[in-house]
Amino acid sequence: MSGIVGYIGKRNAQPILLDCLDQLDYRGYDSAGIAISTGTSIEKRRAVGRVKDLRTHILREPIPAGTIGIGHTRWATHGTPSEQNSHPLSGCDHRYLVVHNGIIENYTALKRGLKKSGHTFRTDTDTEVIPHLLEEHDTGDFESTVRAVLPLLKGSFALAIMSQQHPQTIVAISQDNPLVIGFGKGETFLASDIPALLPYTREIYPIKNGEIAILTPGKVQLTSVDGEAIEPKRMRVEWDKQDVQFQDYEHYMLKEIFEQTKAAEETLAGRLTSSGIHLPELEAAWSKERVQQLKKIDIVASGTSYHAGMIGRKVLEQLLQLPVHVSYSSEFRDDHPPLDEDSLIVVLSQSGETADTLSALREGKRLKCPTIAITNTVGSTISRKADSTIYTKAGPELAVASTKAYTSQLTAIMLLALWLKEQREGLEEEITLSLLQSLARLPGDIDSTLIMTKDAIDQFAQVTFDQEHLFLIGRGLDYVLALEGALKLQEVAYIHADAYAAGEMKHGTMALITPGVPVIALATQHHVLDKVISNIREVKARDAFVIGITTTGDELLVEEVDQVLYIPETHPYLMPILAVIPLQLLAYYSGIVRDHDVDRPRNLAKSLTVE
Ligand code: F6R
Repeated sequence: MSGIVGYIGKRNAQPILLDCLDQLDYRGYDSAGIAISTGTSIEKRRAVGRVKDLRTHILREPIPAGTIGIGHTRWATHGTPSEQNSHPLSGCDHRYLVVHNGIIENYTALKRGLKKSGHTFRTDTDTEVIPHLLEEHDTGDFESTVRAVLPLLKGSFALAIMSQQHPQTIVAISQDNPLVIGFGKGETFLASDIPALLPYTREIYPIKNGEIAILTPGKVQLTSVDGEAIEPKRMRVEWDKQDVQFQDYEHYMLKEIFEQTKAAEETLAGRLTSSGIHLPELEAAWSKERVQQLKKIDIVASGTSYHAGMIGRKVLEQLLQLPVHVSYSSEFRDDHPPLDEDSLIVVLSQSGETADTLSALREGKRLKCPTIAITNTVGSTISRKADSTIYTKAGPELAVASTKAYTSQLTAIMLLALWLKEQREGLEEEITLSLLQSLARLPGDIDSTLIMTKDAIDQFAQVTFDQEHLFLIGRGLDYVLALEGALKLQEVAYIHADAYAAGEMKHGTMALITPGVPVIALATQHHVLDKVISNIREVKARDAFVIGITTTGDELLVEEVDQVLYIPETHPYLMPILAVIPLQLLAYYSGIVRDHDVDRPRNLAKSLTVE
């Protein structure tokens, strides 16, 4: 998605805005732009491409220095990535400059009306209606002009607006789309996401729906739509500026893969205790009786988080013996199973801002279902809307491809499953006791997996350099793991990778197996090992090149495959957390060997705040 930034203080705004945009470019990297106020007038510069392209443009055509400004990094939704369509956008006479994240759903009708009133449009964007509307409804007072325009806009939007007539002011709005105020010493920042603020401040306030923030030098005035003053309740974020630096790694993706040990450790800390599961965030909201009344669970999420949800479904269902359904957020809103007050909805979202997941959560709340969010982002919209939130403690995830957030989500799901089990019937069963013990060893096992697989996977990625197709097969939890591995390879290495339930290949897909095609056979679920081996023989009979992933101690797989990779053995429910690591590394090294920008894959963005 697009990213918005803003600065108002005593320092030169340009390097700060560009630096904050650099931190946000995982939200979009089609074009970038800034507008800076000298105190008497405002100028803008925009460029197609990434923030570095904007920097080059500014070197060629410097922008006057100023201490107030806004900026934008774009993921194109309406209109191609061109300089013309880049933000900040203005209307007919350039009076207003607007940066926008989200979608103005009724822009076609608004544009038609504005054209009739004589406005000339220069872009294909939905955003452009906003500066034109501001010109059309200009009262001479910045705030009241914005207030006149807001009710005309339908959709979800975060906006930062500057006005040539009021060059000392930025107006900021967040309507179903994140925008966070950062409080420095005598300076104020705006950003779509917290990581951009970390080099400057950890004191934040996420602007809420219906609030208007007026930023002037040394002052932040927050009011409701009705004009009532609101005191912004500041939050202090735990994340640190170290978390958004590369440290010794060349890419965020590799750094984040290696941070999984710490992410699991932090997610478990204080929650996995000798007396059971301690989740005060749930204990406050749920009585034992209420947990016992639950009749079913619905998990909702998108992309990689959806894959975490699929694992969650199997674990929750088996542990609690309750029906558990898992849906893509984008489908759930319009087409979901029957729900009522005894259906628990669990939403999973790293960013806590994914528009599809937010809509699904709203639908659940509309039907009066109790809701629990598992998210990585403190203060995010999803965390504020859900009845209770379990935070994953992965730290900021900046690579577009999700890695540490995924394994932390799985860790949190295990905690949730065990907590629900404890409330319903206690933790005495053998299956839960062994899961508890294995969870305690999880960070160490993740560490060993990283050490055991890194070099072998790097080498394998080099030899698959010229392969266009790759298949991943597995049964049960290994099948879900295959889906996640395929997604990583698609998005980072642009390989046509497909995942299949191993037993399904013979029902059609086998026709695609040609001599030498790589097949990754996941064999970490030992109760189905014999059957997976039969499926491996089927693809081997068609001369596929098979790489097996299994646990140390297994002597069967090595006889069947061309190459075998061993990972530590743990509880079967936790195997997807360990076994995803070689697949993440494979996607990373395959992307590198193909010379792709692994942190910013083509056509993608993180934190998708449009449906
Ligand atoms: C894939 C990836 C995406 C996200 C999806 C949901 O690597 O990162 O598929 O998992 O966009 O995002 P969140 O979890 O922020 O809701």
